[in-house]
Amino acid sequence: MGRVFSGLQPTGELHIGNYIGALKQFTDQSGHYYCVVDLHSLTAEPDPATLHDRTLDLAALLVALGLGRKSCVFIQSQVSAHAEMTWLLACEARTGELNRMTQFKSKGRNRPQSSVGLFLYPVLMAADILLYDIEEVPVGDDQRQHLELIRDVAMRLNSRYGDVVSVPKAVIPKLGGRVFSLTDPTQKMSKSDPDPMSKVLLTDSDQLIVKKIKAAVTDSGREVSHDPKAKPGISNLLEMAAVLSGESVASWVERYRASGYGAFKQAVADQVVAVVGPLRDEALRIRRDEAELERILASGRERATEQAERRLVAVKRAIGLHLPGGHP
Ligand code: AMP
Ligand code: TRP
Repeated sequence: MGRVFSGLQPTGELHIGNYIGALKQFTDQSGHYYCVVDLHSLTAEPDPATLHDRTLDLAALLVALGLGRKSCVFIQSQVSAHAEMTWLLACEARTGELNRMTQFKSKGRNRPQSSVGLFLYPVLMAADILLYDIEEVPVGDDQRQHLELIRDVAMRLNSRYGDVVSVPKAVIPKLGGRVFSLTDPTQKMSKSDPDPMSKVLLTDSDQLIVKKIKAAVTDSGREVSHDPKAKPGISNLLEMAAVLSGESVASWVERYRASGYGAFKQAVADQVVAVVGPLRDEALRIRRDEAELERILASGRERATEQAERRLVAVKRAIGLHLPGGHP
């Protein structure tokens, strides 16, 4: 992958859908940026103490994945260029295009009490990405529309002011770009679902993971086969197991076709535990070593700031804002 940026909100607890759709794609390389997007999460109006804790939990998880050595792991609100760039891009984005965003339609449109932040959410996301000369943005399928908008805004900026930003593209996994709820496999697995049985959290104990997978809603019939329309529950588990094991869906089907749902679910649960268990334990260990975590975040912030400031100045200059000292 070329230069990469991705962001995760420190709201709610991360689940296996976030892992499969996004985190699993992240690699520790220089020129890769992984951001705890705390400013985005303000649109969910979090409690301050919870926001503060969850920000560090998420940073610890990113470090537990092996990120933050060559790549930058940092906290969005600590690099002020993101907020500043948001204004510049807000003057480029159109209300018509922001109004079309399905996320905004479902969360805020036509509700006078919904925040302006909710409306500007994709513009802040555009600022995140366009500050870093990004080529690829690994995300789950639910971010596809936001990325299309960001490409449009980037191209508009370039055609007005000359090539000032890179035009990024979304990288969405073919398998696992949309992981479905364990209790309703027609809905996506979501942080905001109040039912704890609907998702495996990346903090769940091994026993709880097994319990949740075993209780997952499955389809009528007995045969394990991949058919997302007719068998959404079994197909969801098959896709999860395939992605997590690095094997194909076909090989999972072959192994468990005739074994019944019980044995199949146990095998899926074991596979999920094998991935989530070590990650959870490592994230906890890092979370307890706050000094080390702060050191990694400070290094990420420094490197991110340097890159972001450089791009911000270039955009300001192109737009015609007067730079300090009158430099052209
Ligand atoms: P968020 O929870 O909104 O911060 O999302 C973090 C990342 O996880 C984004 O890249 C999302 O697209 C991805 N994601 C969220 N839910 C799912 C899901 N059910 N399946 C696959 N990817 C997901
Ligand atoms: N909107 C993304 C989500 O809800 C989070 C996000 C914010 C993001 N900024 C980003 C993802 C930049 C990728 C790149 O999942």
